[in-house]
Amino acid sequence: MKKNILIVGGSSGVGQKLARHYVTDGHTVCITGRKNPNLEGARFQPLAITENTSDLIREIDQLAEDFPIVNTLIYAAGYLQRGHIDDLGDGDLQTMVNVGLLAPMMLVQRLKRSTSNPLKIMLITSSSQYTPREFEPAYCATKSGLGMLGAALVRDGEIGKVLVVAPSRINTPFWVGTDENTETMLDPEWVADQIIALSSGAFKYKYAKLFRNPARSEIVECLDNSFHQI
Ligand SMILES: NC(=O)c1ccc[n+]([C@@H]2O[C@H](COP(=O)([O-])OP(=O)(O)OC[C@H]3O[C@@H](n4cnc5c(N)ncnc54)[C@H](OP(=O)(O)O)[C@@H]3O)[C@@H](O)[C@H]2O)c1
Repeated sequence: MKKNILIVGGSSGVGQKLARHYVTDGHTVCITGRKNPNLEGARFQPLAITENTSDLIREIDQLAEDFPIVNTLIYAAGYLQRGHIDDLGDGDLQTMVNVGLLAPMMLVQRLKRSTSNPLKIMLITSSSQYTPREFEPAYCATKSGLGMLGAALVRDGEIGKVLVVAPSRINTPFWVGTDENTETMLDPEWVADQIIALSSGAFKYKYAKLFRNPARSEIVECLDNSFHQI
């Protein structure tokens, strides 16, 4: 069955690899981001998430209005933010919360209302979901919260299957501007392939970690369709 797939953060990195795959498979794909990658076959919807929550509400409303029937929401937006908590300004904290938590929550809320079929949700978190890091307090907090959002949403019987994937470091533009050696990081194509494989088949909820050295995936939790509200 051909699906409408919305990939928030589909303009770059893993999100863009996923978009290419789904376009090739013949699905209708809408990607968002700040920069248009002019990805052939995919529709681009600009979405620049800042610290300004009023702007975010307006942009999310617009996105849900322009692409209302969504079978699958893939939330891949995220960015590197480093610093002790007192090095980060209020705007830095608000932007991280808006990108990491508020935008996905508001999107799921609106798409659940506008889509008659149960919404399938794929959330890309990070190893920072389960690894506390000194210099990533807000990033760790939002990734952890995003993972819990997925686990909680699956308890809603009107939501479709939910996949939460927590990758380790990936060689993408995420690291631009740092002196990190990206050559030892996971290949974004491999990460996208893992996400696609993990998302297939019948399940209600799946939480998986993607590790490197060697590259491998581990399913931490999987609930099947017989799972009922707890
Ligand atoms: N790379 C890693 O090592 C790594 C490891 C674990 C988890 N992750 C997570 O994996 C996901 C994909 O990241 P990636 O590695 O593919 O990085 P990427 O190439 O930098 O892609 C990130 C995507 O998020 C979008 N985005 C970032 N900040 C945004 C903002 N303020 N407003 C709107 N869109 C924004 C970007 O849009 P534009 O490019 O158009 O601005 C881009 O589409 C992210 O959630 C990231 O946190 C990454």
